[in-house]
Amino acid sequence: MEFIVKSITIGKQRSTCAVVGVFDGHRLSPSAQELDRLSNGYIVNILKGGDMKSAPGQTLCLYNVPRLNYDRVLLVRCGKEKELDAARFRKVLQGMASALAGIGLREAVSFLTEIEVKDRDLAWTLRQTVEVTHEALYRFDRLKSKKEDNGGAPQLHRLTLNIAEADGLTAARQAVRQGQAVANGIALAKDLGNLPGNICTPSYLADEARKLARGNAKLSVKILTEKEMTALKMGSLLSVARGSRQPPRLIVLSYHGTKRTEKPYVLVGKGITFDSGGISIKPAATMDEMKFDMCGAAAVLGTVVAAAEMALPLNVIAVVPSCENLPDGNASKPGDIVTSMSGQTIEILNTDAEGRLILCDALTYSERFKPRAVIDVATLTGACVVALGKQASGLFANDEDLAQELLRAGTSSGDRAWQMPLWDEYQESLKSNFADMANVGNRDGGAITAACFLSRYTKAYPWAHLDIAGTAWLSGGSKGATGRPIPLLTQYLIDQAQG
Ligand code: BES
Ligand code: MN
Ligand code: ZN
Repeated sequence: MEFIVKSITIGKQRSTCAVVGVFDGHRLSPSAQELDRLSNGYIVNILKGGDMKSAPGQTLCLYNVPRLNYDRVLLVRCGKEKELDAARFRKVLQGMASALAGIGLREAVSFLTEIEVKDRDLAWTLRQTVEVTHEALYRFDRLKSKKEDNGGAPQLHRLTLNIAEADGLTAARQAVRQGQAVANGIALAKDLGNLPGNICTPSYLADEARKLARGNAKLSVKILTEKEMTALKMGSLLSVARGSRQPPRLIVLSYHGTKRTEKPYVLVGKGITFDSGGISIKPAATMDEMKFDMCGAAAVLGTVVAAAEMALPLNVIAVVPSCENLPDGNASKPGDIVTSMSGQTIEILNTDAEGRLILCDALTYSERFKPRAVIDVATLTGACVVALGKQASGLFANDEDLAQELLRAGTSSGDRAWQMPLWDEYQESLKSNFADMANVGNRDGGAITAACFLSRYTKAYPWAHLDIAGTAWLSGGSKGATGRPIPLLTQYLIDQAQG
């Protein structure tokens, strides 16, 4: 999918389809007004006829409008002009993208870029257009023997984004490039997330990371095997891997966008390629969704790739501890005590709380990079889904500035997080009679006690934890990975790069 930025008046272009916005009360966007004028009021007439529903994102495709250079004009509802905020505008874009995909056009020109969105600039509008269009066109059909063919209609190949002012072309092209990079990162993360556990194993993830590094000179990769993890005394991570026949991997994918001496941002992603719960086995219903338990890993890999594609002047390192959590004669048992890389001992009261067991060693390992900040991303607790539903990722941090920066990045990208407390009082529930800590607290505040557990391994640097159990994938009819929180993380890195 290709996006081209141009600045040409609507009367002078030629295309199979022009996309323009219309507001409530028959108000037209500037380009729609111009088309209406050229066609002697054809568009306003149609609107007055009441043929078009008024909710933002509703579309109506007009064919053979007289005196225009366009085979089609796609009208997209934008609601009330004064109420057009970021969330509404995303609906508008979704409407455009699914209409274009549905008609089966190869190319179109969008003039929705001229529409003013509350508290947002043109660069944001362009990036959102690219991201939302990609999202609407995404398919995961590589494991189906017959591909969905959209009724024989071609796929959208090129969308031209028209901007009003020609002197904004350079900045606009940069914004589109950023949008493309983010969209590619999201597509990668969705693909990895959607792949089943029998294909997407820890070794598969490691091979994918190797391939990514081969494709970009500023990326490098290091894969640690069981032997190397044993030498590093990662007893907690290795205790989870014991129950599986798939060997564990620790994947380190580094992007060098600036001097080696600059402190990196480290993104740690939970890479459980299947979570059965282990000996504390999960119920059968919806257990298939535990193939998504590596969505944190997929998101940090996608973010590093996007940072590289945007050529951000930063150093960013993805650290991915990866293994399966399965029951086996060799698996950890409730009551087992293991020693983490940090030296702290852990009583495993529930083998299903495995995410924190692999993350803690990856977090200790991350100290060696002398990070500017560490952000871990994990489908960590069902309790977080109970607390926040599927709208917001749970955010925890030991550094308030970092927390605020991430919250802001979430709001501006539309990939929101919500901060949760990490008060000392919550730590008490991790008390063990036999080890330094237990791996679970009681049922109450489960997302918080999980974060408390991680906080015991992150004292050496500014740290934040994103619990994406509710946001990383959708269930039911639209089951599939979402690519979240890549929009949040990439926005955070863009903001950091701009200082
Ligand atoms: N991967 C799960 C968390 C999860 C569960 C995410 C359901 C999304 C939906 C994690 O490893 C887990 O099993 N957590 C346990 C922790 C409990 C044993 C303290 C949970 O949430 O039930
Ligand atoms: Mn689990
Ligand atoms: Zn898990």
